[in-house]
Amino acid sequence: SAAEKGGYEHFMFKEIMEQPKAVRDTLSPRIKNGRVVFENLSLTEEYVRSLNRILIVACGSSYHVGMNAKYIMEKLLRKPVEVVLASEFRYCDPIVDESSLVIVISQSGETADTLAALREAKRRGARTLAVVNVVGSSIAKEANDVIYTWAGPEIAVATTKAYSTQLVILYLITLRFGELLGTIAPEEYDAIVAELQRIPSKIEEILEHREKIQYYASIYFNNSSIFFIGRNLDYAICMEGSLKLKEISYIHSEAYAAGELKHGTISLIEDGTLVVAMANHGRLFDKMVSNIKEVKARGADVLGLTGAKHARALEQVADNVISIPETHEILMPSLAVIPLQLFSYYVALQRGCDIDKPRNLAKSVTVE
Ligand code: G6P
Repeated sequence: SAAEKGGYEHFMFKEIMEQPKAVRDTLSPRIKNGRVVFENLSLTEEYVRSLNRILIVACGSSYHVGMNAKYIMEKLLRKPVEVVLASEFRYCDPIVDESSLVIVISQSGETADTLAALREAKRRGARTLAVVNVVGSSIAKEANDVIYTWAGPEIAVATTKAYSTQLVILYLITLRFGELLGTIAPEEYDAIVAELQRIPSKIEEILEHREKIQYYASIYFNNSSIFFIGRNLDYAICMEGSLKLKEISYIHSEAYAAGELKHGTISLIEDGTLVVAMANHGRLFDKMVSNIKEVKARGADVLGLTGAKHARALEQVADNVISIPETHEILMPSLAVIPLQLFSYYVALQRGCDIDKPRNLAKSVTVE
């Protein structure tokens, strides 16, 4: 009923709008006096110092959170992090033992492949840490440690608030580990914590300006193929933006690392093809501008996304620009994903799709 959907037409939209609260609820109990604290974790300081690799195992959007986490953790922890699809993990003779931490990410806590991967990791002697939304789910019960995302029930098949809260937990884990390992300078730690606490209100700000995104959706909803390009964390966000769009709108879409375009995808760009170009890394901005020019030269229509500081510069090369608030560079995915969720939603709405229950998809996949 409409009441269940908070007065909105779809659960997905309700859940998009709930993100400031979900992120706040996930963050606030874990930050005390400016420090990240996880209560009830059996993971010891000694163990964190001794581990020599981190593996992140998940499916779908949860896997995309892992893609972000790889960039973030490797940058701030200087430990190798590998992200593996749960359905591949079991069958690739994974290199994991007592010195590996396996982080599994799952909204439902019931995804069959993720659960099987968790069991395999344990069998090989790894420590397991689960990031889960559903309290008391199988993955939550079987992992050595569990950290809950306090997103509340997520009904729409396409995840939004679970993704956002998973991302926040991965930031918190990184901060805590970085403190233990001494790899994050104290000023940087403080700066990230302070900015993290501003994320909910910045998400609110993006949501308030959603009409502009709805307008762009109304221009582009008829495209038959859409490409998302970006570098580094932007690439991870592209993967999520592209998945979201194809899941609910049934438009063919691909996410490409912007530098890799010329090795393949650029041959698919034709007059009017929409390219969503993410340019949220200041130090990679000029590289993105070149990639935008490359696709423009092949006739693409470019919708750019960047932080407020670079919006003007991006307008010089892109056809349209979505500008988001500035934040600490590593936290940018928490903001950048929001316009992409809204864009997918509005495109699917224009196309008359069954947004909350896209064809052939299930919220929780309990078969391998
Ligand atoms: C299904 C859902 C996806 C989700 C994936 C992993 O395919 O449709 O939205 O990302 O499962 O689910 P989990 O509950 O493990 O996060």
